[in-house]
Amino acid sequence: MNLAISLTPTHLSPKTISVPAGSSNLFHRCDEGMLDIIGVEKSFGGVKAVNGCSLSVEEGTITGLIGPNGAGKTTLFNVITGYYKPDRGDILFLGQSIAGLGPHQIFKRKMYRTFQITREFPQMTVLENLMLMPEHQTGEKLWNSWFRSAAVRRQELEIKEKALEVLEFVELIDLKDEYAGSLSGGQKKLLELARSMMAEPKMVLLDEPGAGINPTLMRKLMTKIEKLCEEEHITFLLIEHDMELVMNLCNPIIVMSEGKKLAQGAPEEIKSDERVLEAYLGGQYR
Ligand SMILES: Nc1ncnc2c1ncn2[C@@H]1O[C@H](COP(=O)(O)OP(=O)(O)OP(=O)(O)O)[C@@H](O)[C@H]1O
Ligand SMILES: [Mg+2]
Repeated sequence: MNLAISLTPTHLSPKTISVPAGSSNLFHRCDEGMLDIIGVEKSFGGVKAVNGCSLSVEEGTITGLIGPNGAGKTTLFNVITGYYKPDRGDILFLGQSIAGLGPHQIFKRKMYRTFQITREFPQMTVLENLMLMPEHQTGEKLWNSWFRSAAVRRQELEIKEKALEVLEFVELIDLKDEYAGSLSGGQKKLLELARSMMAEPKMVLLDEPGAGINPTLMRKLMTKIEKLCEEEHITFLLIEHDMELVMNLCNPIIVMSEGKKLAQGAPEEIKSDERVLEAYLGGQYR
């Protein structure tokens, strides 16, 4: 479906151009994904962790990234989000190259990632962990100290309000005053998701969100991710070994093996793809 946008510049007659429905960026070509990985390579000494990997993530999807241990999934996340520079290849986010940018610059472009091992601040409360997130807080600037009282207090209140709303959403509100370090593994994963929401991202990369989570929390996490995708229009790329989570939540699923994309498809296609069964699922789904 196309949306028609009417342009009426003063010196020209009215003109109509077509823009694909859902496109958030007029300058973003329609044949690109939201994220395009093009021939990316990253080696550590003799180990080619990512070896000529090309793949695309479409806007509005929850895309799964699976593959055997050591396939290069986390390294690819690290390259995408600026923790490592690619040795070769390009990475386009919304049509613009982000290859070689640092994590902070990529964060500013509204891409947020979580880590395989959660990175909360254990000595701070759950609420404080969220309140640390937003950038450019007025209180961080020295020259603003003159105006501290009013402006900073107002901003802190706004951030706190938002943090409480987010905690309500992920159902951690009852734990807001607990130290983050005292949360269970699953609750920490929810806290990571909550932290990503404070950043108001366009895209979130989750590295094994289901690892070490009990089935109840796992279902909760899946529901929240689905809701964020549908209602907040956040695109997700998630690495996961839990096949139940991947098969129920993600579409499409991309399979990585030996540093590159091996296959991509809907869950049903992936389940029955011989190459995938060989490389990753082994006997599990036969
Ligand atoms: N910092 C590093 N230094 C050296 N080798 C590394 C480094 N990071 C990753 N590797 C190697 O690169 C390869 C890919 O690792 P990576 O962690 O990306 O795999 P993965 O697909 O995320 O695996 P898992 O599913 O076990 O998390 C592995 O052989 C790993 O040992
Ligand atoms: Mg990994």
